[in-house]
Amino acid sequence: MRVPLRLTISTRSVYRCGYMKILVIGGGGREHALVWKLRQSPRIEKVWCAPGNGGISAEAECFPINQADTAAMADLAAKLGADLTVIGPELPLVSGVADEFARREMASFGPSKAAAELEGSKIYAKEFLQRHKIPTARAYGFYNSFDSANAALKNVQWPMVIKADGLCGGKGVLVAQNYDEAKQFLERSMEKREFGEGGARVLLEHAIRGEELSLIVMTDSERVAAMAPARDHKRVFDNDEGPNTGGMGAYSSDELLPAELGARIEKQIVRPAIRGMASEGRPYLGFLYFGLMLTAEGPSVLEFNCRMGDPEAQAIIYRMDFDLAEALANCAAGKLDVDAIHWKREPSVCVVMASEGYPTSPKVGQHISGIQDAEAIPGVKVFHAGTRREGSDYYTSSGRALGVTCGGASLSAAVKTCYEAVDKIEFSGAHYRTDIAGRALKKSLATL
Ligand code: GLY
Repeated sequence: MRVPLRLTISTRSVYRCGYMKILVIGGGGREHALVWKLRQSPRIEKVWCAPGNGGISAEAECFPINQADTAAMADLAAKLGADLTVIGPELPLVSGVADEFARREMASFGPSKAAAELEGSKIYAKEFLQRHKIPTARAYGFYNSFDSANAALKNVQWPMVIKADGLCGGKGVLVAQNYDEAKQFLERSMEKREFGEGGARVLLEHAIRGEELSLIVMTDSERVAAMAPARDHKRVFDNDEGPNTGGMGAYSSDELLPAELGARIEKQIVRPAIRGMASEGRPYLGFLYFGLMLTAEGPSVLEFNCRMGDPEAQAIIYRMDFDLAEALANCAAGKLDVDAIHWKREPSVCVVMASEGYPTSPKVGQHISGIQDAEAIPGVKVFHAGTRREGSDYYTSSGRALGVTCGGASLSAAVKTCYEAVDKIEFSGAHYRTDIAGRALKKSLATL
């Protein structure tokens, strides 16, 4: 396979007269957090976002964009004179936006299309993990037709996992408890194509047990800087009940990653993955998300994402104690300065407030009140995900509306303040989990 050449752009070309103009692509809570943090950099002259959302539009000029149209994104960056374009979501990356920027000799932060295949194809990712002997759940096989996948279900142990191969907007994975559930999912994915073309092929694998951990690294394909560890809460209701979502909340705390575990993950997973991508002619530059299961046998890779997680990003970015604009520019130039990456010790929490009916059929267009009151609480930042703005009024525009985020001297203090802020915000049908970081808090109470 021919891999597009990623140009190394000198740091000088990114820092124009010491100041930078940055375009952020995306329109969710993760992109709001990126814009918020970038604007704090003394090196920033301007931040734009495309398409952005209601909350982002109050902090940065926003432009409509089709996130699958790589040429349109590069055209916009060129028209604006952006020194660097930071790509938030997976769709533009998997569509090859970084390659389009490289072809035009424009700086962007995010992996090439070939490297983003780690998220764009679950089958590629599983075979990559196997090739490089990186711990991961055993696969039953890969299937191109409903009949072959359905037949394979006769020889699995329950529960088991079905993963649609391509991007499915967060709907492509099922932990199936029995044959009926699995068959129904295969029908929806492979026959009815309810999740789009990404569901045409599937991977069947063993289910593994443990606690999940989101470990995201920033890499220029050689140097690697770990971001603060985080834990997502994917099910819609408390106690991990109900259907999967994009993420109903997250927290970040150093206690999630004791030094010994960190060293093991680095040696057995992160380094082999970064080296493996380079050795396969797909050098990885950008954020790489390792979705890990901490099993009794050790850490194991559940999935890769070619971006920061959402809502993990909101909790992680909140804890950044470094100049994000400078770090991203250096990394994009192939000169990641690992020693410049520092973190606030205080843990952080992000609670997602979702629209009625999310994740199945969200009811949107509801007026939101109380954001200012929430942000009046010291340390609270409300990141917008699915909102639109009319003057100073905000309305919900998609399932996950807001990510209420804050830090605290301890995880329990952060959680308490975060829920005080959530209590101030109202919109019709709003729902959220009341147990974000709850298991960690229970565990620390139990050890007192
Ligand atoms: N929170 C998980 C993800 O962003 O895919």
